[in-house]
Amino acid sequence: MRDKIQALLTEIEGLKASSVAELEALRVKYLSKKGLVSVLFNDFRDVPNESKREVGQLLNELKNKAQEKLNAIKDELGSNQSEAEKLDLTRSPEPIALGTRHPLSLVKNEIIDIFSRIGFTIAEGPEIEDDWHVFGALNFPPEHPARDMQDTFFIEQNPDIVLRTHTSSVQTRIMSAQKPPLRMLFPGRVYRNEAISYRAHCFFHQVEGLYIDKDVSFADLKQALMYFAKEMFGSSTQIRLRPSYFPFTEPSAEMDISCNLCGGKGCPFCKHTGWVEILGCGMVDPNVLENCGIDSNVYSGYAFGMGVERITNLKYQVKDLRLFSENDVRFLRQFKSAY
Ligand code: PHE
Repeated sequence: MRDKIQALLTEIEGLKASSVAELEALRVKYLSKKGLVSVLFNDFRDVPNESKREVGQLLNELKNKAQEKLNAIKDELGSNQSEAEKLDLTRSPEPIALGTRHPLSLVKNEIIDIFSRIGFTIAEGPEIEDDWHVFGALNFPPEHPARDMQDTFFIEQNPDIVLRTHTSSVQTRIMSAQKPPLRMLFPGRVYRNEAISYRAHCFFHQVEGLYIDKDVSFADLKQALMYFAKEMFGSSTQIRLRPSYFPFTEPSAEMDISCNLCGGKGCPFCKHTGWVEILGCGMVDPNVLENCGIDSNVYSGYAFGMGVERITNLKYQVKDLRLFSENDVRFLRQFKSAY
């Protein structure tokens, strides 16, 4: 055994290689699983106990020497290589860590995409607004509770300037500035003075829709919303319109969709009703049209407004709203999409 080790050692010390391929062949010959050095390790089992210690040491030395010799040859080859040979054009580039889109952006873009297929274009308005565009023109009476300090953030004690509480403020801006027909979406951030918890935040996102033309009816609204629900949540999705109240629409409704988690059978998410509310809507109140300079005898229209967080929760089952604004990459990394 000792002789074998010695013979191999001398052999290895004399090794030479003139290319990377030859070097690899040497590595396989000596150091791979079935290589000459490894095979000696297998014979180690038969070494008598009293010599095990010494032979073991010799074996380890042999292995280390072999590795060192191959490393030395490798270094030598490397320094003899021309610059062009060293350049490996097949190597993949440094991995670039690509970010992902925020889930709220993904869902917002999907909403926009769905409505753009039926002719809706996009507009945006300011987040810091005056009372007229957020409330007054939208038919909120002066004493309406939505103007209350509890809901609305006011800017610097000036009761006329607020952070918009809904994207309906963009309706009044657009209707005052443009002539019908209008078929538009207004995505954006809105603010309400609420305590932050897993289910409420002091800011969130909405997408508002507005369609003003001659002879627009509630049936048109229902059709557009049904199309949206099926595109967003799947063709078996059902919708349900419940009568509701908003100062700026008449009649008004809230729309539920069949719970897409349990398919309408009832689960904790839909509080065992089989339905989840996703938006408010209605026919634009003639007073609002007139406030914005549109003749309500000629034109009619519908409007709807949905919460982007709500829809995102339904699509991705995010249980805690705060995740959307904490920028935890472990959360954000989970959202990959073409949008
Ligand atoms: N602005 C309403 C809200 O924030 C939603 C809505 C928009 C209702 C348009 C009707 C029409 O709750």
